[in-house]
Amino acid sequence: MAGELLRAEHINKAFSGVLALQDVQFDLKTGEVHALLGENGAGKSTLMKIISGVYTRDSGDLSIKGEKITHDLSPHSAQALGIGIIHQELNLCPHLTVAENIFLNREFSYAAGVLNKKKQNEAARQYLDQLNLDIDPATPTNKLPVSKQQMVEICKTLSMNAGIVIMDEPTSALTEKEIEDLFSVIAVLKQKGKGIIYISHRLEELSRIVDRVTVLRDGKYVKTMNFADTSLPEIISLMVGRALTEKFPRIETARGEKVLEIKNLSSPHGVGVKNVSFELYKGEILAFAGLMGAGRTETVRAISGADKMSSGEIILNGKTLAIRSPRDAINKGLFCAPEDRKRDGLCVRMTLAENITLPSLDVISKLGVIINKLEEEKSAAMVNSLKIKTPGVNQYVRNLSGGNQQKVVVGKWLMRNAQVVIFDEPTRGIDVASKIEIYNIINDLKKTGIGVMFVSSELPEVLGISDRIIVMCNGKITKELLTKDTNQEEIVRYATQY
Ligand SMILES: Nc1ncnc2c1ncn2[C@@H]1O[C@H](COP(=O)(O)OP(=O)(O)OP(=O)(O)O)[C@@H](O)[C@H]1O
Ligand SMILES: [Mg+2]
Repeated sequence: MAGELLRAEHINKAFSGVLALQDVQFDLKTGEVHALLGENGAGKSTLMKIISGVYTRDSGDLSIKGEKITHDLSPHSAQALGIGIIHQELNLCPHLTVAENIFLNREFSYAAGVLNKKKQNEAARQYLDQLNLDIDPATPTNKLPVSKQQMVEICKTLSMNAGIVIMDEPTSALTEKEIEDLFSVIAVLKQKGKGIIYISHRLEELSRIVDRVTVLRDGKYVKTMNFADTSLPEIISLMVGRALTEKFPRIETARGEKVLEIKNLSSPHGVGVKNVSFELYKGEILAFAGLMGAGRTETVRAISGADKMSSGEIILNGKTLAIRSPRDAINKGLFCAPEDRKRDGLCVRMTLAENITLPSLDVISKLGVIINKLEEEKSAAMVNSLKIKTPGVNQYVRNLSGGNQQKVVVGKWLMRNAQVVIFDEPTRGIDVASKIEIYNIINDLKKTGIGVMFVSSELPEVLGISDRIIVMCNGKITKELLTKDTNQEEIVRYATQY
C-alpha cells in the first residue's frame, strides 16, 4: 500500500514459555505519529525491539516499505532499513563523550583511519543545535543528567536519518521546555514524511502530536483508532480493561509530630542547592515541585547521603544526624528511592529477589548467611503487595518491563522499617493503573505515620496526593504551599521565579 512504512501482523513472541506477544498487529504510514499504548508489561517495548532487530520474533509477518522481511533482523540490518529506536532504558556508553555516543560505530576518521575528533564534535553540535540543546559534544555522557542523556539518544537517531523513528517513552525524563523542543522536532520529521512510533504513559501529551493510537493489553492487540475519533477515558479503559474512576486516591489523616527538620542545607553537587530549610511531619506527604534542574533531586540526594552536603543540619526525631552514605541513612531510618533506577536503584543483572532484599540482608540472613527461603518469601510478599508483573522472584530485573522495574526500586525500600521515605519521580514510566498502586503505597506509608517526601514533575499528581508542597527554583525554595489552597498556575509561578 502506498505510503505504508511498516506492517506487522500475527506477531508472536515468548520468553522462556511466557507469551509476551500473541497475534499482535501494527502498521505505520509516512508522515504520521502512531502511539503504541498499554499498561506496564503489555508488550510495547518487546514489539519495538522485534521491529528494530533487538529480538527475533517467534512467528508473524513483517514488512518494511512494502517489502516482506523473511530473514531475522539484527539491530544493524534494521538500522540499514531505516529504523531508528530510542530505547526506554538509556543505552549510552557512560564513559564516551556525547559526540562519541552519537556516532558510535560510525566514527569520523581521516583517510588514514585516525579519528577526526574535531569534525565529529562539529557534526554532533549540528544535531544538538537542531534540538536547541546547550550540551558540549565533548562531555562524557555520565556527567549529564538523565534528561540530557535522553536528548543525546534522540540526536543519535536524528543523525542516522531514519525513516521510521521509534520513541519508547522519550518524554518521561524531559522538562516542559525540552518536550516542546522534542515536539517541534517531531513536527519536522512528520513533514519530511517520516513515521514515528510513540510510546508514552503521559497520556495528556498525546493530543498534541498523535495521529493514531494502537492499544495492547497483556501481550494482545486490542484496537487501532484515529486519535480524533477517541478519548482518553476510552483509551484508558481499553488499556486497563475496565474504567478507572479515581485517578488520585486521597486519604485524610491528622498530621503528627515533626519527624524531620532540615536547616540551611547547601550542596555543591549537580545544579547545587542553597540554604534549603523545611520540616516534615509524621503521616504527611510533602511534594517537591519545580522544573528540571531546580535542585529537587540534589536536595533529596544530600538528605539521603548520596551526595555530601557542604553545610546544613538534618534533624530526625529531634536528633541531629551525621549521614555519611546512603547505607548510613537507611540505618538511621531515612530511605530514598532514586530518580535513575538503572544507575542508582537497581542491579539489573541480579534477580528481582536479590534486588528487593539487598538493603535488608540482615532480615533474610542468619549468622551472616542468606537464607534463600526467607529471601524468596519476603520478596514474593512484596511482589504480591506491589502487583509486580513477573513469572517469579528469580527473574532477572533486566527482563522486567520498565514500570515493573520501578516497582522493584520501591519494594526494596519498603522492606525496611522507615521513618522517612523519599521518592524521586516514583511514577515516571508507570502506567495509569500502576500509578494508583504507587499512590496507595504512599498512602499506606502515610497511614502508618511515616513522613513521605516526593519529587514530581507532574503537577496533577503533586496536587492530587500531597498535603503540602515545596516549590523550588534555581537551587532555592521559592514557596511553601498548602495543597488544598493552591493550584497549578500558582505552583508554576513560583517554579519559574528567578
Ligand atoms: N528479555 C526478556 N526475558 C524475559 N521476559 C521478558 C523479556 N523482555 C520482556 N519480557 C516480558 O515480556 C512482557 C512485556 O514486556 P515489555 O517490556 O514489552 O512491556 P512494556 O509494554 O514495554 O511495559 P512498560 O510500559 O513497563 O515499559 C513482560 O511481562 C516482561 O516481563
Ligand atoms: Mg517498555
